[in-house]
Amino acid sequence: MPILDSNDDTLERIPTEYQGPNPEAVEQLIREPKGLLCLCEGVPACVVIQTIRDEKPTHVSQVSRSCGAGIGCGSCHALIEALIARLNPPAGEAPSSRDS
Ligand code: FES
Repeated sequence: MPILDSNDDTLERIPTEYQGPNPEAVEQLIREPKGLLCLCEGVPACVVIQTIRDEKPTHVSQVSRSCGAGIGCGSCHALIEALIARLNPPAGEAPSSRDS
């Protein structure tokens, strides 16, 4: 029995490029910042979000220097980058009205 059925289009539906964290998950985390965002350093999501709001960083390294998140394995970097983009958009881009 073949592992893949030639009529199964499952593989074609899998994105080939990593798109970053799910935007809805990012929005949910902003609404309800529960739990640890950086497991290596034990930094809660609420601390990372407040750091981004207060200090307006443009890069993960700035967040790392401020609150310690992201200085370990790096697996939280994509989420921190998504939060920076969402909460602190580049100059010229209007902040989202969802940001409250
Ligand atoms: S989970 Fe943040 S550096 Fe490892």
